[in-house]
Amino acid sequence: MTEKELKELLHSMSLQEKLGEMTQMAPNFFGTSDSVDLTGPMKAMNLKPEDVAYLGSTLNAFGAEKLIAMQKEHMERQPHHIPLIFMADVIHGLKTIYPVPLAMGCSFDTGLMEESAAMAARESAATGIHLTFSPMADLVRDPRWGRVTESPGEDPLLNARMTAATVKGYQGDDISAPDRIASCFKHFGGYGASEGGRDYNTVDVSDGVLREYYLTAYKAAVDAGAAMAMTSFNTIDRVPATGNKKMFRKILREEWGFDGVAITDFDAVGELIPHGLAADGKDAAEYALKAGADIEMMSTNYLNHARELIEEGKVDLSLIDEAVWRILLLKNKLGLFENPFKGADPEKEKALHLCPEHLALARKAGSKCVVLLKNEENLLPLKKGVKVGLAGPFADSTSVLGGWAFADSSDRATLKSGLLEDGVEISAMAMTEELGSMQHGIMDVSDQTAELDALADCDVVIAAVGEHPDDTGESASKTILRLSHNQEKMLEKLHDMGKKVIAIVFSGRPLELRPVVPFCDAVVQAWFLGVEAGPAIADVLTGTVNPSARLSMSFPQTVGQIPVYYNHMNTGRPLEGPYHRFVSGYLDCPNEPLYPFGYGLSYSDYRYSGFTVRTVKNAEDGTLAEVSVDVENVSDVPGRETVQLYIRDVAASVVRPVKELKDFVQIDLGAHEKKTVVFKVTREMLSFWNNEAVVFEHGDFDLMAGHSSEEVLKERVAL
Ligand code: GLC
Repeated sequence: MTEKELKELLHSMSLQEKLGEMTQMAPNFFGTSDSVDLTGPMKAMNLKPEDVAYLGSTLNAFGAEKLIAMQKEHMERQPHHIPLIFMADVIHGLKTIYPVPLAMGCSFDTGLMEESAAMAARESAATGIHLTFSPMADLVRDPRWGRVTESPGEDPLLNARMTAATVKGYQGDDISAPDRIASCFKHFGGYGASEGGRDYNTVDVSDGVLREYYLTAYKAAVDAGAAMAMTSFNTIDRVPATGNKKMFRKILREEWGFDGVAITDFDAVGELIPHGLAADGKDAAEYALKAGADIEMMSTNYLNHARELIEEGKVDLSLIDEAVWRILLLKNKLGLFENPFKGADPEKEKALHLCPEHLALARKAGSKCVVLLKNEENLLPLKKGVKVGLAGPFADSTSVLGGWAFADSSDRATLKSGLLEDGVEISAMAMTEELGSMQHGIMDVSDQTAELDALADCDVVIAAVGEHPDDTGESASKTILRLSHNQEKMLEKLHDMGKKVIAIVFSGRPLELRPVVPFCDAVVQAWFLGVEAGPAIADVLTGTVNPSARLSMSFPQTVGQIPVYYNHMNTGRPLEGPYHRFVSGYLDCPNEPLYPFGYGLSYSDYRYSGFTVRTVKNAEDGTLAEVSVDVENVSDVPGRETVQLYIRDVAASVVRPVKELKDFVQIDLGAHEKKTVVFKVTREMLSFWNNEAVVFEHGDFDLMAGHSSEEVLKERVAL
């Protein structure tokens, strides 16, 4: 449609029709008989039957045939035949589920992220979906929060790059293309800072911390052209995000120039009441409309109260028109007025879903996300001729997709089948009963440690441990991050039996591994890797793939340390060396995490040398210095190294973090190959928010490059 036609359409719509456009309901409200996957609490919606024809979008309806039929039926009923937008939570793949976002963050591979998102877009578009509620750009520091699994991790730069790559992967250059979908970034903003890691809880961070850490990745989504933004459930500076004018009107739209659609999270307008912002539904609608939430998801406060608000002069009709205009523009950009079914195609859907190319990509992605945390005496990769036993609740489990997977798992996904496919002979298995979930009241099903005697003849035992996938994701906050009692006992007993123990940890968050690491010769963090989890892990265990992933989130020594993250600020009494009184530390635990951000081993060994800094004067691109470092693979195994650049501003008008990642590159190094990596350090990288504006202040900076946030070479320079 031309802009003129679109304007005419807007002006010919009745108010109720406009409010319907601004309302999103689950597919069951459209009269589908199928059961639906509800992603939030179901309340009485007060949706009048006559308003159904006006609704503008729906969420989490799947299947080309079904969506084509729904669209046809809806357009016949809608007075102006306006098509619906089909939105869905395609978080890490539709049918070909790839690793959870936290694991993808560990790949540090933005190209892989983009490719994986493009695959998800292809499968979704063929099923008739037009938009996904992804990426989740929330920065995370608290593994008690179940939703850390949906974020790329704790670092603003890595999050921003991963977020931008995800948006590009979904949208490509043109969201109307039959194999592309629009992207909605979420949850704006600062949801990852929920107090105590408890979901939906209060967020109270300073403006500086919000802007420099938490908002960075959302901004990257806006700059990458994301079509939609979703509000978060939390308060920010005591105002819930869904009614927060400063966040939505000022920062998102005025400062960042976002001109896409803003949608609320599930029932978030209604939740303004229990939050204590709104007195009732009408009040809630007024707050959300004024804040600029264009679509209300899964509640009907706009439909039921906006007319009155306009009549009373509390809300201007122009606010409604502005919102509907943005929604119509999005429908137009998606090409829905020309082709309301867009990519929906039952044949294509069948051909694409879980096709060999997609499975191959999921397998590759999986192997790039596996983080090798410990590998004593190079136990891994598995050596030929050793007798391998397999144990633990994830040994033969298909529950390895992770949350937000509206897809089926198969036997192929299990670790056992992956190992067999890669030619590993399994001599014996024990204690493989699957784990219950905390959510369903149990973890250990029964004590089976006696079964381990069946592994007496094995040299090496692969122990597949972890947490139930239902215990990760939304509303899956925990206060205990240890493995279940049985699993800890299992690892200890295997160690006592004199076995070489390889722990494979399946989890959606950093767990507290300190109690078990001493019992393990090797520890492999396997996250939840999707439909090809088993083969992907096996590829790493056998050495077909040399692990290259790095932690995108710190692993705490103990829950009491949380939040523990690498880019913290210093104190006036920093702890240096062993603990003593009157410094900032713990009596019973070091300040450092068990495994830091950026950490991860490989089957190669890398040596860093030749660290030099060259200052640059008057460069047009703002370069102030160049950091050069030589990286040598001192092993016989070719590998991929992620070289990381960190900085520290030694003294500034607001205190700066002890380390900040400013760039990273991935280099492939053949056996004994050496490469020089040169990083530019720009004025922009050294600038910061001084509580009023982004500024650069001259002074001393520590420039650091290395293998992880804790293993760096460094030099102090005046810039
Ligand atoms: C939820 C989530 C959000 C999701 C939405 C729609 O409650 O917080 O991430 O996209 O509902 O399912």
